[in-house]
Amino acid sequence: MKPFFITLDGIDGAGKSTNLATMRAWFEAHALPVLFTREPGGTPIGEAIRQLLLDPATEANVRTETLLMFAARQQHLDEVIRPALASGVNVVSDRFTDATFAYQGGGRCLPLADIEILEKWVQHSFQPDLTLLLDIPLAVSMQRLAQNGSQDRFEQEDRAFFERTRQIYLSRAQAYPSQYRIIDSSQPMNTVARTIQAALAHLFGQDA
Ligand SMILES: Nc1ncnc2c1ncn2[C@@H]1O[C@H](COP(=O)(O)OP(=O)(O)OP(=O)(O)O)[C@@H](O)[C@H]1O
Ligand SMILES: [Mg+2]
Repeated sequence: MKPFFITLDGIDGAGKSTNLATMRAWFEAHALPVLFTREPGGTPIGEAIRQLLLDPATEANVRTETLLMFAARQQHLDEVIRPALASGVNVVSDRFTDATFAYQGGGRCLPLADIEILEKWVQHSFQPDLTLLLDIPLAVSMQRLAQNGSQDRFEQEDRAFFERTRQIYLSRAQAYPSQYRIIDSSQPMNTVARTIQAALAHLFGQDA
């Protein structure tokens, strides 16, 4: 069976990390090989870039930030994602290019056309087979983040930033419905988990 590239995206606190365990259990139960990874990160260079970008002390304008995101992504694709897929292993990434459109494009108002140029340059036509967009209202995100203590460089942004970020996620998902599943992540955890498992089952043509 052809391996799939699956991404998990959504604003801060949407439940991406929480649901990785759900996904891991589903792959195990179906005896399907899978590699879990994340962006920015997933490689030594990528993790160094992640640290730099999430550090509240870092000063970077939006173009620098976007270039660094794609630099990390280039390495991630070359070193991790493409080799895994080529060897028959499914890949699940906690965030991918949608996050750049949403945060740098939506949140920081960089023209989406600029991001599309880098997307083509780095990815050519490569796209996820399935993107699970975990969607939550801003109020829920804020409430979840408030319980988490210290905030990274992005989490310190204001409400309007995250509203714009969420809207770009939703508009991309609505524009390409065959690639995206929008999941209401304000639902109880086990409801969200079941919805994710059903989406995986549909992709792989298996029972949930
Ligand atoms: N469906 C849910 N109902 C209630 N709380 C949830 C739900 N999903 C996740 N949470 C809680 O919300 C918080 C944020 O979840 P999580 O860290 O998985 O989000 P995330 O999308 O990975 O965020 P980030 O983008 O900041 O990494 C955690 O404390 C988690 O336990
Ligand atoms: Mg997370």
